[in-house]
Amino acid sequence: MYRTHTCGELRAADVGKEVTLAGWVQKVRNLGAMTFIDLRDRYGITQLVVDEHAPAALKEGADGMGREFVIQVVGHVVERAAKNPKIPTGDIEVALDEVKILSKADTPPFTIEENSDGGDDLRMKYRYLDLRRGPLQRNMMLRHRMAQSARSFLDREGFLEIETPFLIGSTPEGARDFVVPSRMNPNQFYALPQSPQTFKQLLMVAGYDKYFQIVRCFRDEDLRADRQPEFTQIDCEMSFVEQNDVLDTFERMARFMFFETLGVEFGAKPFRRMPWAEAMARYGNDKPDLRFGMEIHELTALAKGHGFGVFDDAEYIGAIAATGCAGYTRKQIDELTEYVKRPQIGAKGLVWIRLDESGEIKSSIDKFYSPDVLRGWATELGAQNGDMIFVVSGERRRSLTVLSELRLELGGRLGLRDKTKFVPLWVVDFPLLEWDDETARFYAMHHPFTSPKPEDIPLLESDPGAVRANAYDFVVNGVEVGGGSIRIFDSALQARMFDLLGFTPEQAQAQFGFLMNAFRYGAPPHGGIAFGFDRFCSLFGGADSIRDYIAFPKNNSGRDVMIDAPSTIDQAQLDELFLKTVKPE
Ligand code: AMO
Repeated sequence: MYRTHTCGELRAADVGKEVTLAGWVQKVRNLGAMTFIDLRDRYGITQLVVDEHAPAALKEGADGMGREFVIQVVGHVVERAAKNPKIPTGDIEVALDEVKILSKADTPPFTIEENSDGGDDLRMKYRYLDLRRGPLQRNMMLRHRMAQSARSFLDREGFLEIETPFLIGSTPEGARDFVVPSRMNPNQFYALPQSPQTFKQLLMVAGYDKYFQIVRCFRDEDLRADRQPEFTQIDCEMSFVEQNDVLDTFERMARFMFFETLGVEFGAKPFRRMPWAEAMARYGNDKPDLRFGMEIHELTALAKGHGFGVFDDAEYIGAIAATGCAGYTRKQIDELTEYVKRPQIGAKGLVWIRLDESGEIKSSIDKFYSPDVLRGWATELGAQNGDMIFVVSGERRRSLTVLSELRLELGGRLGLRDKTKFVPLWVVDFPLLEWDDETARFYAMHHPFTSPKPEDIPLLESDPGAVRANAYDFVVNGVEVGGGSIRIFDSALQARMFDLLGFTPEQAQAQFGFLMNAFRYGAPPHGGIAFGFDRFCSLFGGADSIRDYIAFPKNNSGRDVMIDAPSTIDQAQLDELFLKTVKPE
């Protein structure tokens, strides 16, 4: 038997027991007469001790132990003289009688402790070592518990877990596909699914009225902290449901998962719902962080016509009141201005209005606006003495983005984005279509299978941009954790939708014929949702990056630096696949 207990198991009640433990040597401390070893496994750390009475060979063996050696020890549990309340095994230690090295280890490239001295790249290269560390192990365990809780909820609700293929044709979810050449079908490619969207809809046609899958999805898009090229969804679909049924079911699932993993209630009951247009107007963003206020207020009507050219020419003028920031220095204001002027945000400038504690008003636009006018704006914003108002103007959508970024940045600086607080929200009534200036055409905001709201169907041809969709996003603390919609299940409406999106009937048939044909054989009304499981985990775990919750993630260039992928393949493989490579320009 390799072990009688794990390294996280022994307590004061075990004192006197003879035990066998196995694990990794985290640290050896030789204090002359005594040697202490911290022995680690995924359950915890147990302190081992070789005391002054131990035979010389045992002491030598313990002293010669290197970091990360895998050892097996036999000893007896004793009460510690100096207890360590920080770890669950801190009341005891194991006095050793025998030590056996099971596996030696080279000196690890970084320290494998709670806090590592290894840089990001190094830890990614030796991911299997980083995964030994407590924080990552806890993340993996949280992920496991969350997956289990989702499964158990969905199983109890009658959902069937059904696998769908990875080698498929292109599914249109707005990102680029990863493609896989087919040896048996020369010059043809599979695409890896961006999501199982079409398959889950086919399963509804097939009569499996509640489906789910915890499934890998693949998207070739630019990476960020909350985006990986392969990521996992809790993907679900239901038949004979309306939007409310879906929201209700998955609200209960989110609540259940939260309670099972964190042991506390999640948000208000029911979760708040906010139409997309309201989220945009009040937060400048379709995934508002509701942990704090500082809402955006439009000042277009109030601010125009005072001779200030920048505002007079603007399509939109809006502002937020930064709570308690009247004391901001010139330098702090400049910093914020630079922040919003970064190309990704794109502000042209930032106007400030300082509301002193004494009630005095000063601003960067004093020349054009009297204190009384500015006080009117402050009233509109609900600003108090002691606040600083920031005003942004320009094209409407861009200005809202700037205000949204500014709001989030200020929220962060003011400590209002508390990671232990969770505010869930359903954003509903998304626009069905999104206009793209560059290609001068509409795109489906969610995907082409999303249904329009019945009352907006008459606008489909006359004012497509105004049509709202039966689409919803699940947002927590400013993170889009999930999204879904009620689908079109009528092939005639689906054909109209493809037409709007600029597909000829032939193109639509070529790409989506299988789905449109399936709908001709009795399609039930259906709808669903997919949660970004990695995002869900990082949110519950209080981290910004989803990488910490994925065992083997890719880096920001989409590379796996540990196995060194992607990589070239040899000529024989290329030949077999009828592929030729060309040098990039
Ligand atoms: P959507 O594209 O909104 O919907 O994706 C659902 C959720 O998946 C997560 N997500 C990602 N997570 C990590 N890395 C990525 N690259 C990434 N892309 C998306 C987000 C997102 O909310 N088929 C539809 C769902 C449906 O309509 O039922 C879909 O995939 O958290």
